[in-house]
Amino acid sequence: MKARSPLPSRGRHPGFEYHEIKRGLLRRQRQFILHCDDVGLPALAERYGTPLYVYSATMIRERHAAFEKAFRHVPHLVCYSVKANSNLSILRLLARQGCGFDVVSGGELERVLTADRKAARNVVFSGVGKTRAELTAALKAKILLFNVESESELWALAECAGRLRMQAPLALRVNPDVAAKTHPYISTGLHQHKFGVPIREARALYAKASGTSYLEIRGVSVHIGSQITDVAPFGEAMMRVAELVAELRRDGHRIDYVDAGGGLGIPYERGGTEEFSQSATAYAKSLSSPLRGLGVRLLLEPGRSIIGPSGILLTSVLYKKTNDGKRFLVVDAAMNDLIRPALYAAYHEIVPVCLDPTASAETSDIVGPVCETGDFFARDRQLPAVAEGELLAILDAGAYGMVLASNYNTRPRAAEVLVSGKAVSVIRRRETVSDLLKAEL
Ligand code: LLP
Repeated sequence: MKARSPLPSRGRHPGFEYHEIKRGLLRRQRQFILHCDDVGLPALAERYGTPLYVYSATMIRERHAAFEKAFRHVPHLVCYSVKANSNLSILRLLARQGCGFDVVSGGELERVLTADRKAARNVVFSGVGKTRAELTAALKAKILLFNVESESELWALAECAGRLRMQAPLALRVNPDVAAKTHPYISTGLHQHKFGVPIREARALYAKASGTSYLEIRGVSVHIGSQITDVAPFGEAMMRVAELVAELRRDGHRIDYVDAGGGLGIPYERGGTEEFSQSATAYAKSLSSPLRGLGVRLLLEPGRSIIGPSGILLTSVLYKKTNDGKRFLVVDAAMNDLIRPALYAAYHEIVPVCLDPTASAETSDIVGPVCETGDFFARDRQLPAVAEGELLAILDAGAYGMVLASNYNTRPRAAEVLVSGKAVSVIRRRETVSDLLKAEL
């Protein structure tokens, strides 16, 4: 039985909406074309080719603004998590909005400094394996805060700061032993995870740090995981952090900052309208209630919740095939472009770019050309029937998409474009095979 395809859900992605086009002599034929801001995606595919990452600047700005609004009652700084999408133009756009940055490598720090020299003072540096070279570079850049994750790192930081005759501003990243209810690969707040120092051992470590003149204690940091859609664990972690802050102050330490990390999830699966302002408000409440009265400045490290829904991966259908009754759509994007389905069994909504509301629905696996069974974007997915050569949009691909792209199967990485209203800029040109061969001697 052939089902009618559903009409596109309006408002689901304000940056990516269908515009109705009337065709035919009497303009009776209706078609819906997916747009990014005011630009039709077919025009982008034609001009820049596929696979193509497309971002909505409007949506990035709006989501950042929603975050700011949700936290307006507490002193705070949003430090966008660069790992989610580190394209220089996106960093520059966010820097212009007054955003700080969370980096986890010397490379990410260099990106931030390239995007905006002055952003260093709003940078926090996290990660369990910072090298001495990276620590030194960040000290020289005069970043806001080092989130230190072990005692050994503490001494490495003191050594680097000592060599520069500087004081290193730091927070210890504590592990609150709170379960985050997310995919096991991206949950970080339990004692069996490699991150942070156990919260019970933190006081002793703060005491040790305070005896070193090259270290300057400034705060406490925590991050319990990513893609967390229930805000309760954030509140629970923050409660434990708030107790620790009070204890540390009693011990005589200066605690100006609480860094709450990132992790606010997005509704990859839910249809209908996503009210980001509502989830940001609930998130803000759960974080700020336990901290009430402590007078700390809250640092936030959102990545996915700002950039995830603001980007899509545009791909063309190369072939349709049927193996023993099982249908496949082979597209020109692959796991090397977007690895989330293969790596985390992540769900991404996939929609046709040109939608004929009268089209029947078909169930198929949407797969890429890479020689791995794991190279799929969706399995047994019902979509309005599309023909070879047509375009599909893989939604919510702005975060952990391009940054995790590889050259597997010697596939050059996709181009990226940023759309702002009617304006389109290429923010990363398509890689070529000769780019790939160049690095090999
Ligand atoms: N801060 C720290 C210390 C982090 O480790 C992370 C993410 C963030 C902030 C940003 O979290 P967000 O707001 O984006 O959830 N590749 C995985 C996600 C890995 C997250 C790693 N850490 C994925 O595609 O789902």
